[in-house]
Amino acid sequence: MTATAAWGATAPESGLNPMTIDRRTLRDEDVAIDITYCGVCHSDLHVARNDWGRSIYPFVPGHEIVGTVRAVGAGVTRFKAGDRVAIGTVVDSCRRCDACDEGEENYCREGVTGTYNSKDRIDGTPTYGGYSAAIVVAEPYVLRVPDGLDMAAAAPLLCAGITTYSPLKNWKVGPGSKVGVIGLGGLGHMGVKFAKALGAQVTMITTSPAKGDDARLLGADHVLVSTDKAAMKAANRSFDFLLDTIPVQHDVTPYLMLLDRQGTLCLVGMIDMMPGFHSGLLLMGQKAVAGSGVGGIAQTQEMLDFCAEKGIVAEIEMIRIDEINHAYARMEKADVKYRFVIDMATL
Ligand SMILES: NC(=O)c1ccc[n+]([C@@H]2O[C@H](COP(=O)([O-])OP(=O)(O)OC[C@H]3O[C@@H](n4cnc5c(N)ncnc54)[C@H](OP(=O)(O)O)[C@@H]3O)[C@@H](O)[C@H]2O)c1
Ligand SMILES: [Zn+2]
Ligand SMILES: [Zn+2]
Repeated sequence: MTATAAWGATAPESGLNPMTIDRRTLRDEDVAIDITYCGVCHSDLHVARNDWGRSIYPFVPGHEIVGTVRAVGAGVTRFKAGDRVAIGTVVDSCRRCDACDEGEENYCREGVTGTYNSKDRIDGTPTYGGYSAAIVVAEPYVLRVPDGLDMAAAAPLLCAGITTYSPLKNWKVGPGSKVGVIGLGGLGHMGVKFAKALGAQVTMITTSPAKGDDARLLGADHVLVSTDKAAMKAANRSFDFLLDTIPVQHDVTPYLMLLDRQGTLCLVGMIDMMPGFHSGLLLMGQKAVAGSGVGGIAQTQEMLDFCAEKGIVAEIEMIRIDEINHAYARMEKADVKYRFVIDMATL
């Protein structure tokens, strides 16, 4: 065990504070990583506050992790000390179910081992996230950060990036697709960049008119303000695919009205009960409401390589670790442009 500096929560109302956690002694397949930057995902805030009712305390958030390999176990073949690596939301899975076999570890039938708020499959110890100096992860779950990608700006790709890339690929978004991305935050801004890079016609659908100029700079062809009833009506039945990143309960009816025949509204934001809607909105036009959760390890590597090829990274605001509670307060007010990243040198 190695005592490791971290920041975490001890109770739903505690906020985040400095603490010391144990990182395990290297197993044969393990990679020890010194963390240089960690992105701040809205899910970190949800779990710190026990919004989903399953938080284990003490809780150390952070699943958008980049860093440098410090040491490797005897059986590790793909990584060596000094390599630029990354960890996303998954650090282990059963490795034998059909989902794992098909590279969809994120949908493992036995349930994934999350980077945080899970239990290690071998010794049952809690998993702690990336708001810490170092992490130890089994080789199959370690990603490579391609040369040319800025490490800090690449960190958010590990959750916000793959969570938006995966559904866009799954629903075959490409040239000719009319895509709307709902909510311009961490996920949403990556959704706009990816949809554009895949060749789609992209509309940013936002509650914040002031974000319109930014949305265009990120690549959006159009901006639709969802509180503008006339504009929403004019956009009736004009989208093939909508990516909904809204982090709170919301009525999907106004968005379903935007779907064209055989269109899909894919939920990637709110992870909880959602209000109902009239089924006629789906029946009339063979429409679907779907969902998507992060992405598999192979697809995450594909996404990182795609980002290197296309020059895509997140728009980040770097913070010190002792600014994290303030950053959470700002994130709750949708006041982030567009992802906070913690500089771990400030730990
Ligand atoms: N599916 C997955 O695997 C997965 C992975 C990561 C995160 N998540 C979840 O995805 C959600 C978004 O995460 P994030 O990190 O992108 O959050 P974020 O950076 O806070 O962005 C959320 C955006 O949604 C919009 N929004 C906020 N409140 C709203 C409201 N009441 N009504 C309408 N729009 C609202 C805002 O954009 P505008 O100002 O443009 O309206 C806001 O910037 C979180 O709930 C997180 O837990 C899911
Ligand atoms: Zn996340
Ligand atoms: Zn599995």
